[in-house]
Formats: sequence, structure tokens, C-alpha cells
Amino acid sequence: MQTSLEQALAAFPRVALLDEPTRIQRAERLETALKKYAKGVGIYLKRDDHMPVGGGGNKLRKLEFLLGSAQQDCIDTVITVGGVQSNHARLTAAVCARLGLNCELVLTRAVPKSDTDYDHNGNVLLDHLFGARLETHPGGTDSLAIAHARAGQLRQAGRNALVIPTGGSTPLGALGYARCAAEIAHQEQQLGIRFKHVIVPNGSAGTHAGLATGFAALQREPGLVKSFAVLVEQAAAIDKTRQLMQATAQLLGTPEATPTEAPNIDGSQLGSGYGLPTQDMLDAVRLMARSEGLLLDPVYSGKAFAGLISDLRAGRYQPGDNVLFVMTGGAVGLYAYRETFQPK
Ligand SMILES: Cc1ncc(COP(=O)(O)O)c(C=O)c1O
Repeated sequence: MQTSLEQALAAFPRVALLDEPTRIQRAERLETALKKYAKGVGIYLKRDDHMPVGGGGNKLRKLEFLLGSAQQDCIDTVITVGGVQSNHARLTAAVCARLGLNCELVLTRAVPKSDTDYDHNGNVLLDHLFGARLETHPGGTDSLAIAHARAGQLRQAGRNALVIPTGGSTPLGALGYARCAAEIAHQEQQLGIRFKHVIVPNGSAGTHAGLATGFAALQREPGLVKSFAVLVEQAAAIDKTRQLMQATAQLLGTPEATPTEAPNIDGSQLGSGYGLPTQDMLDAVRLMARSEGLLLDPVYSGKAFAGLISDLRAGRYQPGDNVLFVMTGGAVGLYAYRETFQPK
């Protein structure tokens, strides 16, 4: 049966980029590897890293709504912004290829890192392969202003360009993860379990805000969604996520459901900053690879999974709790961090 959340979401145009719900699988070998701390905690993985376009990842859910609306406006070009190794940029390029749109990427050196792998491999290699036009600017450049100026130029030339801000994290983009909350709720029924914690990375906040807004509309407990900040410090991540939750709920028509509590965001995994490796991230990526044969990424999901492990160790989950870790994709970024992952 369709929930009122799904009915509200159905009012928004959407380009279908996912053929079906992404799998939820139990990570039994991980549970065994962590059993010293896990004490009867069920660890499940939502495979948002496994999707049919561009290598997959969380941005496809946002792009479904962002491009659904843009198609109604007959756009011919999408311009977006991000760091050099932006997964969002790569997936935007892939989706544009799929939909026959031009794609332009305004990238900035957001991470103080520059070597052959970082500058040319991973997402950058794929951006080119998907046929996007790339320009790269120094860190701190106002890439959104450049993107809007370029859209203006294109409009003057008779073209119609859409500008998508960082990470696709607008209220419209966040609807993708509100929809994912409904998907998870259905899968809980099928699996006969209920998740006590849903864990995600927090970059531009759309994934957390969308899930939290969706679960709130389903009357689930506030704090069910927990994220680990990987882009900015905890306080800034809380502010951004709270604002985006409010705006997303407003758009969806469910503002009364928005929790009054601050979103549940942990800043302990950021390390020295965005895109800068931590030992805990390295250990988490290796543990996932060696126990489940699955790939996390060095910038987002690796740090968030390190946070989950740290919470397990600290006894923050109770025996019998089921924890859902959303694999948000980004493994392509591993190739940009080859030196960081040199075998020991
Ligand atoms: C692989 C991956 N995971 C998680 C995130 C964070 O999602 P959000 O920006 O919605 O917070 C990103 C954002 O770029 C990402 O690329």
C-alpha cells in the first residue's frame, strides 16, 4: 500500500534512473569480524553503491528529481560544481550522457592534494569518458557563481541550462532520499525487521536531510538517522542539515513532521578535513573489503563506516539492535588515492 509520503512524492516529476529498490544485505562476515564489540548487533548494508548508471551512488537518487523537473523545463545543458574528485559531478555527467544532455563541470581544488592519480584518475577519468566539459579552479573559488555566469552566456546563445549546486543538495534533490526512506520502510516489512539506526556520511547534507525528512513523515523516531560529517565540522553540518530538512519538508508538504531536535550528526571522523585520509578510514575500507568483498570510498563512506565501528566499540548499540549502513558509492575515488592505499 502507498504511504502518504509516497503519494506526496508522486506529485514531483522524476526521471527513473534506478530500475528497482537497491538491495539490503546482512553483513555476516563483518558481524563476525566485529563480534568482540558487536554483541548481537545486526549489521545490514543498503547497496546504494550498486545502481544501473555511471557506477552508481547516492547522487542518482537526487538526480532523479532534479532532472525530472529540468526535463519539464526543456533544458539542454546541465552545469554543476564540486571538488576535483566529485562523485556527484561524475554521476551528473553519466546521467546527462544517458539523457542526451550537455554536461559542464566547474570543479575546484577543495582538497589540498595534487598528483597524477588525483588529478587525472578516478572520477576525472570518468567525467571525460562520459563526455562532460571540465574546468578546474583553485580552492576557494566561487564555482557556483561561475556556473551561473556560464548558464547566462548559454541562455544568451539560445540554449537552456540548469545549474545544480554542490552535491545536488537542494530540497528537490533531497526528495530522492525521502523516497529512499519509504523504500527502506517497505524492505523492513519484507525482511521482518526494524532498523534502530540508519547510518550515512554527511557531505552536502542532502542524504541525511532527505532520509530524516522521509522517516519523520512516516512517524519514525527522531534520531533514527545518524550521519558522520566529512565535509565540515559538526556544528556547521547540523545547521546545514537542519535547514535542508525544514526546506525539504516544506516542499513535500509535511513541515509539521520535522523533528524539533537537532539532527544526529557526529563530527569525530572528519580528521584533518575534507578528503584528507584518516587511519580509521583506511582500517574501515580494508575491513569492508576483506570481510565482505565490498568497496567503500576514502572521502565519504570510509569515514562514515569508521564512525559506525567506533560507535560499536563504544557500546552505543545494544544487543538485538539492527543497524543499516547506507553504502553511498564513491569507490571510483579509490583510484585517486592509490598512494594512500599502498599495501602494507
Ligand atoms: C560517495 C558519497 N557518499 C556520501 C556523500 C554525501 O552525501 P551528501 O552530500 O548528500 O551529504 C557523497 C557526496 O558527494 C558521496 O559522493
